[in-house]
Amino acid sequence: MAKLVTVLALIALLGSTARTCQAGYGYPTPVPSIPSTPTAPPPYTPSTPSPPTPTPVTPSPPPSYTPSTPSPPPPTPTTPTKGLAVGYYNKTCSRAEDIVREVVRDANPGIMAGLIRLFFHDCFVRGCDASVLLDQVDPNSPTEKFGVPNLSLRGFEVIDAAKARIEKECGSDAVSCADVVAFAGRDATYFLSNKKVYFDMPAGRYDGLVSLSNETLPNLPPPFATVDQLKANFASKGLTADEMVTLSGAHTIGISHCSSFNSSFSDRLNPSTSDMDPMLMSSLREQCKSDTGNDNTVVQDIKTPNKVDNKYYKNVLSHEVLFDSDAALMKADDTSAAVRANAKDNGVWEEKFKAAMVRMGAIEVKTSANGEIRRKCGVINSY
Ligand code: HEM
Repeated sequence: MAKLVTVLALIALLGSTARTCQAGYGYPTPVPSIPSTPTAPPPYTPSTPSPPTPTPVTPSPPPSYTPSTPSPPPPTPTTPTKGLAVGYYNKTCSRAEDIVREVVRDANPGIMAGLIRLFFHDCFVRGCDASVLLDQVDPNSPTEKFGVPNLSLRGFEVIDAAKARIEKECGSDAVSCADVVAFAGRDATYFLSNKKVYFDMPAGRYDGLVSLSNETLPNLPPPFATVDQLKANFASKGLTADEMVTLSGAHTIGISHCSSFNSSFSDRLNPSTSDMDPMLMSSLREQCKSDTGNDNTVVQDIKTPNKVDNKYYKNVLSHEVLFDSDAALMKADDTSAAVRANAKDNGVWEEKFKAAMVRMGAIEVKTSANGEIRRKCGVINSY
């Protein structure tokens, strides 16, 4: 392993970092088709040595951020969280979660939406290991952030800023980037829900060392996915169809590039093939018009674009959603029933969302120090 780290260090020294290349665009044509059953990355098998003993305490949210309506604890996840624990950094870096929350609080709503998506894109490729943040060091081997689905990710600078503050307070390898990404996704949900959706995020993840752009398309569902493809993709990560519907509710915030729903793969603005509401369709046609060939952006939720709420499901029911993958939720009995249930204003979706985010945060986590590290976010060989 020491050998591998040395080799990576050398490559990193020779190579170039590529943090500049974050211009956003959706799914340009042509895009490779996804396999109907996405391939799951090889399962991570933690070996000895065992992870540092987590402190299984349940801290309440810090006073300044106490949610206005305290909610009941989320249902216990059905998959084990493999060594993750709530309050993991209480003894080693007690302000870690506060720092992330403070930095996220100062971000704008668009970046906050980006942070929730960043967490999803991190966890679905090689598990929640911050591999999505890694910069390219080998000119022949682009990292995940150069994969088509990741070109429009945003919020990297928030992760960097939070990690820098944590490092100043607690040292460079006290807290993993993967945990910072998970905390940031949780905190963005908290602020965008007007402090209604708060939950504990178990921590203790280690950071991965491998990041490959060609692993993004097979693992991240495209906006033209069918309901069967969506189910298969989430199942390959250990998530249920109901959790897939629940997590899709994140499309209640943020933006999309026109190319994500208006291309030869996804002809959502064509009235003869699309079931999109005609008013929304004509409005999107206007918004996507560009003399310069620009790939414009539009909001995902026309009703409450910056609010984490259950409006997304109402939009699915009224055909006011952008993607085929959103509309596809009505194409199977179980998922359409879930959409109807989540559209009810009874707080059930919010509770399910909290639990599903925690479950997503446990996908193939690396909790052993064997081969994994805590590092500067984006950089492999910083220590
Ligand atoms: C179910 C399968 C999903 C598909 C096919 C999908 C696809 C997409 C696409 C194509 C975009 C727009 C990208 C662009 O053009 O800029 C997007 C945006 C977004 N997605 Fe998803 N997504 C899915 C699930 C999720 C999940 C599980 C989450 C989080 C829990 C999520 C959170 C978001 C957020 C917050 C945005 C807006 C990001 C921003 O404003 O920067 N999505 N998604």
